[in-house]
Amino acid sequence: MQRFTDPAALQAWAQAVRARGETIGFVPTMGYLHDGHISLMHIARPQCDHLVVSIFVNPLQFGPDEDLDRYPRDESGDQARCVDAGVDVLFFPTPPTMYPDGFQTRVKAGPLASPLCGASRQGHFDGVVTVVLKLFNLVQPHVAVFGAKDYQQFQVIDAMVRDLNLPVVIQAGPIVREPDGLAMSSRNAHLTDDQRQQALCLSQGLNRCEALVADGEFDVARILAAARAFVSQQPLADIDYIELLDAEHLTPIDWLQRPAVLAFAVRFGATRLIDNRILSP
Ligand code: PAF
Repeated sequence: MQRFTDPAALQAWAQAVRARGETIGFVPTMGYLHDGHISLMHIARPQCDHLVVSIFVNPLQFGPDEDLDRYPRDESGDQARCVDAGVDVLFFPTPPTMYPDGFQTRVKAGPLASPLCGASRQGHFDGVVTVVLKLFNLVQPHVAVFGAKDYQQFQVIDAMVRDLNLPVVIQAGPIVREPDGLAMSSRNAHLTDDQRQQALCLSQGLNRCEALVADGEFDVARILAAARAFVSQQPLADIDYIELLDAEHLTPIDWLQRPAVLAFAVRFGATRLIDNRILSP
């Protein structure tokens, strides 16, 4: 596995690969890799000649009161996991090389970035699309794979790819869960035993709502009330949002008539977890 820290060197590598007519697959990550990330690599691997993984905890997508400094990191463990997953190139840039002095340009995400995480994390998605566009320009992937746990992130990036005519196919890999249902996340590492146990209310709440819909409940207010009541039973759970929005436009709905995304963001102490499920009538 080749390792790059210098963006220009990686870009030169990608240009040479493309000049030879070979294809590049890409999985962008913030590291502390778990089986969810590895599953994205397995999706990308057979679709390309060269698989690139980036590990970069992007300061631009964290607000001043967020967990940038305590975001978990494990450089050597991540490197070993990438070798095992058949990664060809690991890109490990530093903030000063990605955002050198004088860096001033941002991509502005559109209305898909307004609700859910965009409402509680001001500027977050502008930071995401800015770094993803930079990474696409450096890696020049033919295909890039993102996790479906970040449903809104995927929609926002998908819009950017369409709107800016980026020559890349993006794909979403399904949410990977622990055996008891908790969605895998690097942030799970911060949970205490009690928080970890109570965090099951996210996946179980989603299961409950899915069962309600299967039983014929399409009234969004009632589905949301059930979800909020269920999560609120856990004393350590602090709901950031629980919303059911049109799956394509991320706009409010009153009645489940077409696919909608049920999205949860719940804090356990300083750790904020998200999860989601697509519900169809
Ligand atoms: O989903 C993530 O890990 C990050 O938001 C991403 C896409 C790597 C951009 O920093």
